[in-house]
Amino acid sequence: MSIHPHPDGTPWRNFYGRIKGKSLNAAQAERLDRDLAALTLHGVTREENPERRPLDPAALSGDRPLWLEIGFGGGEHLVHMAAAYPQVSLIGAEPYVNGVAMLLGRIETAGVSNLAIHPGDVRDLFDVLPDGSVGKAFLNYPDPWPKSRHHRRRFVTPEHLLPLRRVLAPGSEFRVATDIPDYVRQTLEEVPAAGFTLIAGPTDRPWADWLPTRYEKKALRAGRAPHYLTFRRP
Ligand SMILES: C[S@@+](CC[C@H](N)C(=O)[O-])C[C@H]1O[C@@H](n2cnc3c(N)ncnc32)[C@H](O)[C@@H]1O
Repeated sequence: MSIHPHPDGTPWRNFYGRIKGKSLNAAQAERLDRDLAALTLHGVTREENPERRPLDPAALSGDRPLWLEIGFGGGEHLVHMAAAYPQVSLIGAEPYVNGVAMLLGRIETAGVSNLAIHPGDVRDLFDVLPDGSVGKAFLNYPDPWPKSRHHRRRFVTPEHLLPLRRVLAPGSEFRVATDIPDYVRQTLEEVPAAGFTLIAGPTDRPWADWLPTRYEKKALRAGRAPHYLTFRRP
């Protein structure tokens, strides 16, 4: 199946990140062909749902809590959470095809069945998730966009935060991890401005159920320290 909503392979919103990396190895390509369609959350893309009808909450997760990871990268944290919380359903959004392929490998190895994928931009998912349908959201090492003129591309801007707030249930947690001090600054400005309350951090002590991601390891190797922040949607 095609991983991106447009027939020509481009996403229909401006997406500045990377969609393709090096070619997939044979096992990854086979897994994408074999497993992605079954794990993909349907009714999210513009092709499947041009009217942007909200998804049916019962079909999303039944009466189980639903958690969301934004930009799961290689999927290690997402699979770790799915294994640690079998009573929860998780959705991960990630447009980077190599990351999606890595996630599929991890799902197979871990044998978890409580997660679904949106292999694309999380904003597509925000369009169709019902109000208050998500019980927890994770944003781990979002793209830093270091140049000031690119700061408006960061996830922590109203374009992303206001829809996120709408889909989060009252009282739910929004966790942010980043290694970039200026990202901490913008997070502390923008996330409360979008209607969230800071309840913990910034701190260098991770959550008890945290699993270091690829980007965290890379940051540590480069001498950059992690910062963890926890917000609540009032
Ligand atoms: C720096 S990487 C971090 C990946 C992973 N969370 C980790 O900690 O290793 C940021 C990821 O966010 C993804 N991303 C960026 N914008 C996104 C969006 N609008 N929707 C979903 N994912 C997005 C990128 O494709 C990239 O894989």
